[in-house]
Amino acid sequence: MSLNQYIRPVTTERKENLNIGGCDLMELAQKYGTPLYVIDEATLRGICIDYKTAFAGCANIKMMYACKSLCTSAIARIVEEEGFGFDAVSGGEIYTLYKSGVEMSKVLFNGNNKSRSEIELALDLGVGRFSVDNFYEAELLNKIASEKNLKADILLRVTPGIECHTHEYIQTGQIDSKFGFDLSQLDEIIGLIQKQYKNLNLKGLHAHIGSQIFELQSYSDEVEILVKEIKRINEKFELKLDEMNIGGGLGVKYTSFDNPPSTDELAKAVVSVLKNCETDISTIYIEPGRSVISTSGVTLYTVGSSKQVPNGRKYVAVDGGMADNPRPSMYQAEYTAEVVNKSDDFKKEKITIAGRYCESGDILINEIELPELEAGDVLCVYNTGAYNYSMASNYNRVEKPAMVLVNNSHSDIIVYRETLDNLISHDNIPDRLRR
Ligand code: LLP
Repeated sequence: MSLNQYIRPVTTERKENLNIGGCDLMELAQKYGTPLYVIDEATLRGICIDYKTAFAGCANIKMMYACKSLCTSAIARIVEEEGFGFDAVSGGEIYTLYKSGVEMSKVLFNGNNKSRSEIELALDLGVGRFSVDNFYEAELLNKIASEKNLKADILLRVTPGIECHTHEYIQTGQIDSKFGFDLSQLDEIIGLIQKQYKNLNLKGLHAHIGSQIFELQSYSDEVEILVKEIKRINEKFELKLDEMNIGGGLGVKYTSFDNPPSTDELAKAVVSVLKNCETDISTIYIEPGRSVISTSGVTLYTVGSSKQVPNGRKYVAVDGGMADNPRPSMYQAEYTAEVVNKSDDFKKEKITIAGRYCESGDILINEIELPELEAGDVLCVYNTGAYNYSMASNYNRVEKPAMVLVNNSHSDIIVYRETLDNLISHDNIPDRLRR
């Protein structure tokens, strides 16, 4: 088992109340308020170790944490301490990594529409690799790099014709995607790099085939396609490309119905294809986001109102919802929850957990059986480390929650709760409207 196969953080235990990282979650809710994001450091470091152990036999593997899943300064520190580099996709993520002291040569800059100012920032700070996504970007990056008298080390992002969803994948000749070069466009871009773009230094290829992937065959096929393509390019263009980035995507277990492969199984799938292919590839990048951070995170909510629809379902509302976790309303994502202050011995009922936002679709969990809830109870929703805070909004002008890191019975704030003044801090009243 690897930790992406757990629903709960490894340190979860039920004492009088539910505890994580040795901290009583009821006490955390009282101390920091709710909604509250809680990250268990032991689980986060544990999954990083799972990844490193799984890929230990694979020479020159570089783990690049996809920080779009959760990018805060303290998380960057921990993940870097565990030996990971980073996949960043914006000036904001690059700046966060830089300010938290990350060594910038370990950062790879992804994205399908990097702006001039983001490219300039990345070049100025010495980001290690650019994954060039399209013809426009190749020209722009070359131009900016030549203005600065620099050479940018690049990978080319390709769409290898594989598309994954949670439980299925398809392989076709071509995929209709906004990301990357179609394989049929590679010769043209490589020709341009060889002849015109003298400030780009091509090192290899990059692909990312999807997210929340359960199907290992899709990775095997992806690696095979990339290896073949690199061989073909090296022969045709007399190059020595030796880097391959296989993207992220390994799934996690949101509910008992999810069965993601382990990090070991993923590593075996990748390594076995590489062995069969006799390749010269010296550096393999992997960019996991969700599987690194999701399981370590939970969100605490306080229960408020409830409503029994006559002859219908019972809604129980909590003090957060679609603004701190947009995944249920965006992707019909499912989550598992427990009541912090009531064990399974309590009388149970089937309810629907509603959010507090002004939208009927703001439902966090549809139909879950839990101990009977009343106002003031605290709910713990599992597996919210990834794509919750990073996709949070201020819808309804509600302050974004705080985030705490727990470890060895100790808790530290890593993101402060927004204040009402934070909410209006970017507003401006034109002079003619001032009183
Ligand atoms: N590399 C690239 C180029 C990516 O586009 C992504 C995710 C990753 C790595 C990391 O994938 P992961 O290991 O986290 O699956 N907001 C959606 C997920 C969007 C993923 C976008 N790209 C969600 O909440 O499910």
